[in-house]
Amino acid sequence: MDPAANGTDVTVDLKVNGRHETRTVPARTLLVHFVRDRLGLTGTHVGCDTTQCGACTVEVDGVAVKSCTMLAAQAGGCEITTIEGVAPGDGDGLDPVQQAFWDEHGLQCGFCTPGMVMAIRQLLRDTPVPTNDEIRHGISGNLCRCTGYQNIVAAARSAARTSTGTRRSSRADPSATSTAPAGEVS
Ligand code: FES
Ligand code: FES
Repeated sequence: MDPAANGTDVTVDLKVNGRHETRTVPARTLLVHFVRDRLGLTGTHVGCDTTQCGACTVEVDGVAVKSCTMLAAQAGGCEITTIEGVAPGDGDGLDPVQQAFWDEHGLQCGFCTPGMVMAIRQLLRDTPVPTNDEIRHGISGNLCRCTGYQNIVAAARSAARTSTGTRRSSRADPSATSTAPAGEVS
C-alpha cells in the first residue's frame, strides 16, 4: 500500500486473532491492506482488489467477508479472524477445514486456499451437511486459478463429515463422485 496519506488518518482499534491491535492509517486503507501490511498477516491474499476472487476473505465478527471490500476503519471494534488464527494453536493441530484440505489435497499452488478455507468455514456454519451443489454455491465467490475445484469440493465434504461426526470413505459415498468437469464451480 502507498504509505502516503491521501486525506485524514484514522486510528483503528480492533481484535485480530484474539490480539488487541491499534494502528493509525490513512482513512482509505482497506482491511486487507491493514492485516497484510500493518499487521504482517500475509496469509490473507490479494488476487484482484475488485471483489472478484475471494483470496482476501477473512472473518469479521464471525462472518466471512472479502476484506478488499471493507475499509479498515469500518472494522473498528470488531473481532477479525485471518487464516493465521483459525487453527487452535499450541500444537493442537489444524482447523477441521484446513485438515480436510490436507487430507483431500485440496490445493495446487495454494494461492486461493486461505480464502477457500474461510468460505468453507462460513458454508459449514450455515449448512453443516451441504450437498455438492451447496458446496459449489458456497465457494462461488472464490476463484481457483489452478481450477482445483474437484478436490476443494471433496475437502469441504470431508470437513463436513468430520464436523458432524459422520466420517466415512468418500469413495463409498455415491454423491462424492461428481460429474462436473474440472474447474466448474456450479
Ligand atoms: S482481493 Fe478481494 S476479492 Fe480479490
Ligand atoms: S490452488 Fe492455485 S489458485 Fe487455487
